[in-house]
Order: sequence, then C-alpha cells, then structure tokens
Amino acid sequence: MSKRLKQIIMILTISGIGMLFLVAGINAEEAEKAEKKPCTPDVMEMKNEQAFPQHRMGIVQFDHKKHVADKPDGYGLGCGECHHDENGEPLSDLKPGDAVKNCLECHNKQGRPARPDPSMSPEEQQKEKLKYYYGAIHENCMGCHKKQGGPVSCMECHPQPQR
Ligand code: HEC
Ligand code: HEC
Ligand code: HEC
Ligand code: HEC
Repeated sequence: MSKRLKQIIMILTISGIGMLFLVAGINAEEAEKAEKKPCTPDVMEMKNEQAFPQHRMGIVQFDHKKHVADKPDGYGLGCGECHHDENGEPLSDLKPGDAVKNCLECHNKQGRPARPDPSMSPEEQQKEKLKYYYGAIHENCMGCHKKQGGPVSCMECHPQPQR
C-alpha cells in the first residue's frame, strides 16, 4: 500500500469515528428534550364526533407539541393559555401526565350556535356562544392567533375536505 493511500484511509477512519460521536450527541439531546414533556399530546387530529356527528370542513391537525415547546423550536405557550378549571381560571401549573378535561365537558353544546340574537346584549351573546364547543374552540384558537400571529382564515386550519 502506498503511503498516500494509508493516509487517506487514516483520515476516513478518523472522520468516521467523529461522525459516530456527533450522531450520538444529537440523539442524547433529543432524548433529553422528550423527557421534559413526555405526556403531552403530539399532533392531534381534531375530529370530535360527539360535538359534530358530521364534519363539513377538512379535519384540523393541531400541533399541540409545537404550541407548548420552548421557543425557538415551538411557540412557548403555557398550559393555562388553553386549559382552565370549572371557574375558567387558568390551569397554569398543569404538569405533563396530569389528566385534562375535554373542552366539550364544560362547553357542552353540540353543533354550531345559531345566529346571534340581536335582542341579546353583546355579553349575553358571548356567553351563549361559549356554551358551544364550536364557539369555545374557535374563540381560543383564533383569539390568540389574532394577537400573537397564527392562522385566522378557515382554509389555513381546515384543509380542503376530500370528497
Ligand atoms: C385556528 C384554526 C381554525 C380556524 C382559523 C378555523 N377553524 Fe373551524 N375548527 C377548528 C377546530 C380545532 C375545530 C374543532 C374540530 C373538532 O374538534 O371536531 C373546528 C370546527 C369547525 C366546524 C365544525 C366541524 C365541521 O367540520 O363541520 C366548522 C363548521 C368550522 N370549524 C368552520 C370554520 C370556518 C367557516 C372558519 C373560517 C371562518 C373556521 N372554521 C376557521 C379550527 C379552526
Ligand atoms: C394552544 C392551546 C393549548 C396549550 C398551550 C396546551 N394545550 Fe393541551 N390541549 C389543547 C386542546 C385543544 C386539547 C384537546 C381538548 C379536547 O379534545 O377537548 C388538549 C388536550 C390535552 C390533553 C389530553 C390529550 C388527549 O389525548 O385527550 C392533555 C393531557 C393536555 N392537553 C396537556 C397539556 C399540558 C400538560 C400543557 C402544558 C404543557 C398543554 N396541554 C398546553 C390545547 C392546548
Ligand atoms: C371544567 C370546565 C371547563 C373546561 C374543561 C374548559 N372550559 Fe373553557 N371555560 C369554562 C368557564 C367556566 C369559563 C368562563 C365562562 C364565562 O366567563 O362565561 C370558560 C371560558 C372559556 C373561554 C372564554 C374566556 C377566555 O379565556 O377567552 C374560552 C375561549 C374557552 N373557555 C375555551 C376552552 C377550551 C378551548 C377548552 C379545552 C381546551 C376549555 N375551554 C375547557 C369552563 C371550562
Ligand atoms: C395562546 C396562543 C395560541 C393559541 C390558544 C393557539 N395557537 Fe396556534 N399558534 C400560535 C402561535 C404563536 C403560532 C405561530 C405563529 C407564527 O409564528 O407564524 C401558531 C400557529 C398555528 C398554526 C400554523 C403552524 C402550525 O403549528 O401548524 C396552526 C395550524 C395552529 N396554530 C392551530 C391552532 C389551533 C387549532 C388552536 C386551537 C385548538 C390554536 N392554534 C391555538 C399561538 C396559539
């Protein structure tokens, strides 16, 4: 074997070992991240058949994990931004693995609210809207998106339904 060839083999071997360490390092970093928030849902298919026997719109894919992951990978939101108790008080100290009630358990009217009744005050209209899962979920998602960025138009959340 020529000296030159030996040198090339040597360089390839060293860089190969280097790559192994690099890959192991990345994996360890990822495992550590996963350990921090183990039991929060990942991407949720929002298809609540109790609230809507039939979905007219495309099914929303809600990236729960990304919404709670720390910035800059995620949006860095606290649990209490979306989860609250029976008085509407934010559940800010919710920990991964804690049981969480479905929105529909409290915002328990099915389907879509009727057109707002003009004889009602704006406060009453808002209260009526929030009785519906439909009203609560749209208010939560879009209310924040209007302030912090994020999709507010129908098709950005609901993909074109397959027909
Ligand atoms: C930020 C995301 C988002 C945006 C924007 C949005 N929606 Fe929704 N929408 C949802 C989620 C989440 C649900 C709950 C679906 C479920 O859990 O089954 C929903 C449910 C619905 C439903 C009931 C289920 C169905 O498919 O029939 C209708 C109708 C609906 N949305 C219409 C609209 C319309 C019209 C717009 C635009 C004015 C809109 N949405 C904008 C997230 C969004
Ligand atoms: C941006 C809004 C948002 C934030 C922030 C958020 N969640 Fe959620 N989470 C939801 C929605 C919406 C659901 C679905 C509720 C439903 O189906 O009625 C949900 C569902 C859950 C569920 C139930 C999963 C299942 O499969 O039924 C758990 C557990 C949960 N969240 C934990 C957490 C924890 C812990 C945090 C904080 C680290 C958190 N969530 C932050 C919106 C959020
Ligand atoms: C244990 C019962 C309960 C559960 C579960 C629940 N809510 Fe609520 N929610 C309330 C109460 C009570 C209020 C206050 C109502 C009022 O002020 O009239 C409220 C208020 C709201 C409001 C209006 C106030 C605000 O924060 O902007 C939105 C939007 C909302 N809920 C969305 C949701 C969503 C989305 C979920 C599921 C992730 C959820 N709620 C789960 C009881 C509940
Ligand atoms: C408290 C604030 C907040 C709430 C509540 C919230 N989001 Fe978001 N969402 C964000 C932010 C911030 C972004 C990123 C905006 C950007 O940088 O473009 C985002 C982005 C998104 C995106 C586009 C990128 C992606 O991650 O897929 C979708 C879709 C989305 N949100 C769906 C939802 C749905 C569905 C809900 C309700 C169940 C919801 N969001 C509730 C803050 C929120």
